[in-house]
Amino acid sequence: MDQVGIDSTAFRKALLKWYRAEGRRLPWRETDDPYAILVSEFMLQQTQVVTAIPYYHRWLERFPTVEALASASTHDLLALWQGLGLYRRAHNLQRCARMVVDKWGGVFPRSVEGLRELPGVGRYTAGAVASFAYNLPAPVVDGNVARVLSRVLNLQEPIDTPVGQAILWDAAERIARCKQPRLINNALMDLGAVLCKARRPACGRCPVRRVCRAIDAETLPRKRPQPPTQVRVERYWWFYDGARVLLEQRQAAARWGGLWTLPTLDADAPSGRETFVSLRHHIMRFLIDLQVVRGDHASLPQPPAASRLWQPVARLGEVPMPTPHRRVIGLALAAESARL
Ligand code: ADE
Repeated sequence: MDQVGIDSTAFRKALLKWYRAEGRRLPWRETDDPYAILVSEFMLQQTQVVTAIPYYHRWLERFPTVEALASASTHDLLALWQGLGLYRRAHNLQRCARMVVDKWGGVFPRSVEGLRELPGVGRYTAGAVASFAYNLPAPVVDGNVARVLSRVLNLQEPIDTPVGQAILWDAAERIARCKQPRLINNALMDLGAVLCKARRPACGRCPVRRVCRAIDAETLPRKRPQPPTQVRVERYWWFYDGARVLLEQRQAAARWGGLWTLPTLDADAPSGRETFVSLRHHIMRFLIDLQVVRGDHASLPQPPAASRLWQPVARLGEVPMPTPHRRVIGLALAAESARL
């Protein structure tokens, strides 16, 4: 029994036995290339494993090395990330590649501290690269691991507090301090994804049930009360000449930076027009109500011409676009046909 409150040796032994038999085979587990692992971890932030897999393969085919990514055009970068959302991750990934090339001659740092110098790389991602690429005993606490550990420890402290986080990272660190940190971290993630699920955890089949202290697993982890979802209205113009749609490129520093969307209509500007089509979608804690207003030439917006494009409908697939805009354009085109 150590200070974690569980028998770490028994825990690891049971966990690894299960992982060897039942662990998931995932493409980023077939490599120890820190670049490929970094790519997978950026993609997996806020994105499910099944969604990320085809993107991961396409990305590495197109940008097989840090050098290839460092010199990629923004257009290619965004075209390959298109559909994954949260595009800042793609920009940060390229900034990482440039830093590795420019600062370290193309060689990734081999320590958690060194890895944390990379843009967008925090404790979790640095730990993931260090353990998965180098088999270093670095802890990783993502959503799955936090759930497993909070249950194993029967942790009543909310996990989204500094105290709760400190307890989880401390436990993960002790567990990873062994000869097989790569396997242990992967196994912890899989236990959370496969058996120790948020709803209806399969405790009867759990390899660590003899070590686990959870009294009522489904009530764990505890979290602080969440702020309610905020609804945000965003309005855009619909300019369509029967064959082409007017698009606008988002500013580099803005959300969706570099991608093409319908032209923005200032949310406060009274347009005196009805919404033509609309679409609701979630981004983090926001519910975005995307409203599209039909424009005519008198209301044509005036962004710099360089950031505006009349794109033929048949070639919309060639421009990188956020998924909600692609969908709402589909709705608007259907509404246009219905008007005929
Ligand atoms: N989620 C985040 N990183 C992961 C990984 N390496 N394997 C499976 N799921 C993950």
